[in-house]
Amino acid sequence: MLETLLLIVILISVYGFARGSSSLAPWVPTKVKDYQRINQLIKKNNPKKFIDLGCGSAGLIIFLAKKNPDIEFVGVEIALPLFLFAWLRAKFFGLKNLKIKYQDLFNIDLKEFDIIFVYGYPRSIKKRLTAKIKKQAKPGALLLSYVFKFHELNLLEIDKPTSDSLAIFVYKF
Ligand SMILES: C[S@@+](CC[C@H](N)C(=O)[O-])C[C@H]1O[C@@H](n2cnc3c(N)ncnc32)[C@H](O)[C@@H]1O
Repeated sequence: MLETLLLIVILISVYGFARGSSSLAPWVPTKVKDYQRINQLIKKNNPKKFIDLGCGSAGLIIFLAKKNPDIEFVGVEIALPLFLFAWLRAKFFGLKNLKIKYQDLFNIDLKEFDIIFVYGYPRSIKKRLTAKIKKQAKPGALLLSYVFKFHELNLLEIDKPTSDSLAIFVYKF
């Protein structure tokens, strides 16, 4: 009985991680040293609602939600173990301005968000994400893409303070 349960948990976990890897990117968290840079980009733009598409274990979004209690934050994650961990962390910190959802980002309507954050691999950006964001981002919304560029969108700025910093590509709609 216990073995069967354990096997089911392992299979669900492997399936979740595999889905995430093939859909947007595997779980590779944003570097902690870049959290503050992302926070500055947010503060500069005064948003009401922010979404992290594929929030992983939610390190970034928890940091941002703590720093900006007046902004509503949403993190969506498709890998069940990461979602559960992220959800528990958010509960632990009691952050009223943060929701963690177990959902495929491709089923989320982006039109209500002022800032969309994504750390996805070029293949997924090109394949599905560019079209979705182009269709749904509201006028004035910002897209922050960590490390990888969206080639078909109009670039507003590249945040890369030093030659060895990772780039954050900023797009405005
Ligand atoms: C590169 S990690 C980024 C994690 C987090 N955004 C950060 O910056 O620290 C990409 C995350 O997206 C998740 N993911 C991949 N495809 C997804 C999808 N279709 N819907 C929701 N999450 C997805 C993966 O499971 C993974 O945790």
